[in-house]
Amino acid sequence: MLDNLHDGHNTEFLYYDQHAEWDVDEAPVGLEAAAILLRSTAFFTRSSRGFCASDDNGFQRVCGAVSRLNTQEKTMRFTGKTALVTGGNSGIGFTTAKLLIAEGARVAITGRDRTKLDQAVADLGANSLGIQADLDDETAVESAFKQIKEVFGSLDIVFANAGISGPTPLGGTTAAAFEAILRTNLTGVFLTVQAALPLMGVGGSVILNGSVMRELGSPGSAAYSATKAGVTGMAKVFASELVQRGIRVNTVIPGGTRTPIWTRGARAGATLDATEEALAPAIPMARLATPEEVAKAVLFLASDDASGITAAEIVVDGGTIGAPRGAPMYRKA
Ligand SMILES: NC(=O)c1ccc[n+]([C@@H]2O[C@H](COP(=O)([O-])OP(=O)(O)OC[C@H]3O[C@@H](n4cnc5c(N)ncnc54)[C@H](OP(=O)(O)O)[C@@H]3O)[C@@H](O)[C@H]2O)c1
Repeated sequence: MLDNLHDGHNTEFLYYDQHAEWDVDEAPVGLEAAAILLRSTAFFTRSSRGFCASDDNGFQRVCGAVSRLNTQEKTMRFTGKTALVTGGNSGIGFTTAKLLIAEGARVAITGRDRTKLDQAVADLGANSLGIQADLDDETAVESAFKQIKEVFGSLDIVFANAGISGPTPLGGTTAAAFEAILRTNLTGVFLTVQAALPLMGVGGSVILNGSVMRELGSPGSAAYSATKAGVTGMAKVFASELVQRGIRVNTVIPGGTRTPIWTRGARAGATLDATEEALAPAIPMARLATPEEVAKAVLFLASDDASGITAAEIVVDGGTIGAPRGAPMYRKA
């Protein structure tokens, strides 16, 4: 019997239920966790080469060899790193924060909605820091970074993710409604990256959140689409300006993704399933992306695995813009 055990310090151990030699010595950390997982109690014989879990009566239930796997290097890419995820109390941002924390990072998240922010911090745990901030407000942005500096000291990763959508059809849109989307999705992203820079140094990684909407020509989406085209352009400028400081700047380009953005604002009352049903015919994979799929691309760009990558983008859209003719609507029956 084989299984993987976690020791609470993010080190993975492999155990065998066969008897093995061991010395009662100092054990690798985490064997108590193994004992709990093995549902053995009371005694755990420590050893540098093996372990034995015993029950209350000292009866040996499971003994075996322990070997440390190299999964720490493979799966804990952000140990000791600090990150900011704007819009981290919901959707793609929340999931990215969760995965960053799972790989060892301390993560500050921002959002406007206090209740959702508190819930997100409760879900993310001790390595999260919740900061209520409306990124449309320059003073709030400055105050958010003051708090991050006080708590984290510096930042390794910035995911400028916060964004809004909304209908802005020709002939039915006020300047205020149009500019509100520009303010959050473009100016807010610019102000976020600008304010983060004093906290960032060599090895830093900035990721912006774009969208396939930049190039779909989707009716009624002029402001949103323009902002996402703008994000793509802005990312390249940021990459140029920051390359000499050793900071990489890349963009994730999601297609339709299962998040609350589809069920809020003007779309309040819609469901994600109905949205997926409506959009799937134009998506080669015939489904929305999951927030995890987008977040994993963000984590790659944030990590040292992407150390040679700047001014690049990863599209996570089920083939929507790369292979549109693969979509169900073009398939022969
Ligand atoms: N879901 C998709 O299909 C999709 C596709 C392509 C790109 N994207 C992009 O992905 C990003 C995240 O969106 P999502 O899909 O995860 O939607 P979401 O669940 O609605 O999350 C949006 C986040 O942005 C925050 N936010 C919005 N305006 C803000 C402001 N002025 N100040 C501070 N925070 C603000 C929201 O915080 P509050 O809730 O507290 O306001 C929320 O945390 C956006 O940039 C969006 O354009 C999404």
